[in-house]
Amino acid sequence: MGKKLRLAFFQFFPRIGDRKYNEEFVVNYMLENSIETDGLEIVVFPELALTGYDLSREKFKALAKEFSTDNYSEFIKAIAHVEKKRGGRRLWVVGDARKGACDSDESSCVYNSVVLLSSDGVVGYYDKLHLFFKEKERFIRGDKLGVFEFDGVKFGTLICFDWIFPELSRLLVLNGAKILLFSANLVLPYAQNAVWTRAVENRSFVVLANRIGRENNYTFTGRSRIVSPRGLVLAEVDADSTSYISVEVDLGETSSWITEKNNVFEDRHSLLKFKEEL
Ligand code: ACM
Repeated sequence: MGKKLRLAFFQFFPRIGDRKYNEEFVVNYMLENSIETDGLEIVVFPELALTGYDLSREKFKALAKEFSTDNYSEFIKAIAHVEKKRGGRRLWVVGDARKGACDSDESSCVYNSVVLLSSDGVVGYYDKLHLFFKEKERFIRGDKLGVFEFDGVKFGTLICFDWIFPELSRLLVLNGAKILLFSANLVLPYAQNAVWTRAVENRSFVVLANRIGRENNYTFTGRSRIVSPRGLVLAEVDADSTSYISVEVDLGETSSWITEKNNVFEDRHSLLKFKEEL
C-alpha cells in the first residue's frame, strides 16, 4: 500500500476566443460538481481550455496572460471555496496561453502551457515542448521538463502532441514522476491508445484530459481517461460529453518491479549497451 490520492479530468467544449466565458464555465462547473475528499485531488483540464485552439498568433497574443497569482484570483478563490466545502487539498492543471519573456525581437512571446493552481496561488507551469502543425507559427516551444512536487506527490505534465514522443514520458518518470498528466486537444484518433501505453511502459498513472467539439477543420476526439500502471482503464468517457470524473488511486501500484526478477528501469541494461550506436 502506498500514498492515496484522487486523480481527475474535466472534459468540455471551450468557446473559441472567449476567455471570460471559459473561465466562468470551468469555475462554476467545478464549484457545483467537486467531490468530497480528505486527501489531495489533482484535476487536469484540456489544452488551451481558457482560449480555444485554432486562433492566429495575433489573437493568442491578445488573449495570453502572465502566469501570476493575481491573474488567476477567481480560480484560486474557487479552489479555496471547494476545499472549505468538500475538504481535501486541490491542484488544478489548466491549459492556457502564457505570455512570457523570449529571445526574439518582440517584447513578449506566447507559449502553449499549463498553469498549476492551488488555494495558495500559482504553483508552477509547463510550456509545451512539441508543437503540432500550425502551432509552430503561433507559439514559442518550451525548454524545460514539467516535473513537479505538490503535497509530497511527484508528477509530470505533458501537453497533447507530447504523447507521440515516448522519451518525454520516460524522462519525466526517470526524474521521479509517479503520475503523467496530459492536457490535450487531441485530433489523431489513436492517441488515447498510445497514452495507455505510456502508463504501462513507465509503471505510472496517466490522466488524459481531452476536449470535445469542432473548431474550423479540427475535430477533437474527447475520450478522456485515467489509466493505472497495470493498464486498467479506471475512468473513460465518450467523444462528446462534458464530464468531470475523479478516482482514488494508490501510488504503491507504481513500483517499477514487474516480477521479483524484473525491474522495468534497471532491466534496460541490455539496451543501454547499444547506446554508442544510436
Ligand atoms: C495537439 O497537439 N493539439 C494535437
